[in-house]
Amino acid sequence: MLRVVVLISGAGSNLRAFLDDCNAGNVPATVVAVGSDVNAPGLEHAHRHGIPTFVEPLATGEDREAWGKRLAAAIESFTPDLVILSGFMKLLPASFVERFAPMLLNTHPAYLPEFPGAHAVRDALEAGATETGASVIVVDAGIDTGPILAQSRVPIHDDDTESTLHDRIKIVERKLLSAVVRDIASREDSIEGN
Ligand code: GRF
Repeated sequence: MLRVVVLISGAGSNLRAFLDDCNAGNVPATVVAVGSDVNAPGLEHAHRHGIPTFVEPLATGEDREAWGKRLAAAIESFTPDLVILSGFMKLLPASFVERFAPMLLNTHPAYLPEFPGAHAVRDALEAGATETGASVIVVDAGIDTGPILAQSRVPIHDDDTESTLHDRIKIVERKLLSAVVRDIASREDSIEGN
């Protein structure tokens, strides 16, 4: 079973859906820990499932490299096969990315390379786009520039607000993430079976 650590910063609704998919046997993975840079409300989903959590805040003025090392050590104590950034909103230092990539994934609420960055949903609306999307990528040193593993389009409705559009995108993000992890797990299985 693939051991997964998930990092979040917010409500963790995608984490909740991923946990449900794992528990239902739809994804052959076990979330062994959930981490955050803040006391995120979404940690509650992990608590409800009896999954350990950790919080590693970036202190004001703290060196990002030092914080990245602390975060990496916390993650590594759970010996994951895969780390997923699911609404984790802090930029990670390059040394962190090198340590975990390519087994370091990020979900993004746009059809990359369109609308990278922290305000992808708002940016799509402000650009007057008629469609946007969702992507799952491997994290690299850039901002949302890593290899794209899966993506789908989401239409933008005339009456969409940032919140209604984001809610519809998240439904697609959840499906993509579970499909990608299923695929990784099946490849790991065949590697182990050889
Ligand atoms: C997702 O759209 C994720 O891609 C973005 O933040 C959202 C996380 O939502 N960066 P939630 O915390 O899972 O509800």
